[in-house]
Amino acid sequence: MCSIVIILIIGILVSLQSLTQAENCSFFSEESLKFPKDFSFGVSTSAYQIEGAWNADNKGPSIWDVFTHNHQDKIKDESNGDIALDSYNNFDLDLKALKHLNVDFYRFSIAWTRIYPNGDISSRNQKGIDYYNNMIDKILANGIKPVITMYHWDLPYEIQKFGGFTNSLIVEQFLTYAEELFENFGDRVKTWITFNEPNQICKLGYGIGVFPPAINLPGVGDYLCYFNLLKAHGATYRLYQSKFFEKQGGKVGITLDTIFGFSKTNNNADVDRIMQYSLGLLAHPIYSKSGGFPKIMVEDIQKNSLQEGRRKSRLPIFDEFWRTTVQGSADFLGLNYYTSRFVRRAEKPCFESPSMDRDADIETSVEPEWLMGKSEWLYSVPEGLEGLLKYIRDEYNNVEVMITENGWSDDGELEDDNRVRYFKNHIQAVMNAVNEGCNVTSYSAWTLVDNFEWLKGYTEKFGLYSVDLTSEKKERIPKNSALFYKNVIETRTIPCDS
Ligand code: NOJ
Repeated sequence: MCSIVIILIIGILVSLQSLTQAENCSFFSEESLKFPKDFSFGVSTSAYQIEGAWNADNKGPSIWDVFTHNHQDKIKDESNGDIALDSYNNFDLDLKALKHLNVDFYRFSIAWTRIYPNGDISSRNQKGIDYYNNMIDKILANGIKPVITMYHWDLPYEIQKFGGFTNSLIVEQFLTYAEELFENFGDRVKTWITFNEPNQICKLGYGIGVFPPAINLPGVGDYLCYFNLLKAHGATYRLYQSKFFEKQGGKVGITLDTIFGFSKTNNNADVDRIMQYSLGLLAHPIYSKSGGFPKIMVEDIQKNSLQEGRRKSRLPIFDEFWRTTVQGSADFLGLNYYTSRFVRRAEKPCFESPSMDRDADIETSVEPEWLMGKSEWLYSVPEGLEGLLKYIRDEYNNVEVMITENGWSDDGELEDDNRVRYFKNHIQAVMNAVNEGCNVTSYSAWTLVDNFEWLKGYTEKFGLYSVDLTSEKKERIPKNSALFYKNVIETRTIPCDS
């Protein structure tokens, strides 16, 4: 009798776990709704999007400087990051907002062209190093941990002249830059992210060619880029382990972005296909037991390449040295999650050949009831985040996941209720995943202040704080979402719906 009652109670508790926070608030004690004590919250930015001062203190040009200057028409409002939020000269304004939010950590990126203006060690720039040293000291003095992204899309223009990520020289060039960062900042910085969103770097930069360096080589340039970028990442991890880890004791990882795929017909093969093409091509080489690109991609691309009359696959293959260098080369998986899609295998080939899309051969769709942000690609699908975290748990041996970005775009209103709802639902999805045994240790919101949103200029706003760029003071004004997030951080709970 007693055991039947216990089983019944357990059953009720388990089904309550799957209710939303709003629904289960009244059932659980406050304690059980809290994030674990060591779970940390932060906020993310990137250098080009906020710093401005594009040529100050010897900084060299990056591919984004050159692209925005030469192709104004490609940026929606014909703007650029020359001045942006002027964070380079006004870091204290950002710091004030960070303190107001009470974040545990601040994830920001370093502009390679401030450290090495032409990308190479021969141009080493002490002023750039001093700038970030000072910033790191200030962050730490305020009780906030710095999390550094080494590369957030602003490749030194001079390195692009060598072919950028399509030339394997990038491995050595990145490694030298990374070593400079570890040497100068590693005594205080304990979390390192090598690359932010290789999918965008490679697919948009060297495949479709809509992002700088605007190389249009679909199905060829993008794969070369992935290959070299993974090698640069792996080599950097090995360098840290052999030369810095013992003294500095930090962690090194990479930030990947992906949608989660749902199938209307419960077709697991379609879901697996999209997941391998959007996450697996980076995660499998690093986090799987066997390493190398996912089998499905190796086979598809080999087959398609031969059909196109080539002698070998457009997808480069890791030799044994590189396969083992890259395999296991991360202490955590940084995850940028924004949105999801329904997916299904294309009925007839509907993408240009060759291209990654043609190789993947997947059509995507959205649900009419999914709320859309200002960005045309952004729909709010919190269940996608929960599904994705479980997928990573099962596929990659429950590797530690740090959510390095998650955010919502609008026109910039201070009463940003849709952003509040987006954050609330997504943070809830994270909590659900944690309760389901997913090894998620942190969450970072994108982004601190409205900033330069790449091809969309300043027309799509993702910030928790707003700023009047024409004002002299450039004060950071909290939106409702900042107040909401501050409350989550301070209470470690998600507020119940009233
Ligand atoms: C991810 C990128 O890392 C970031 O730079 C960008 O602003 C956001 N997505 C929103 O598009």
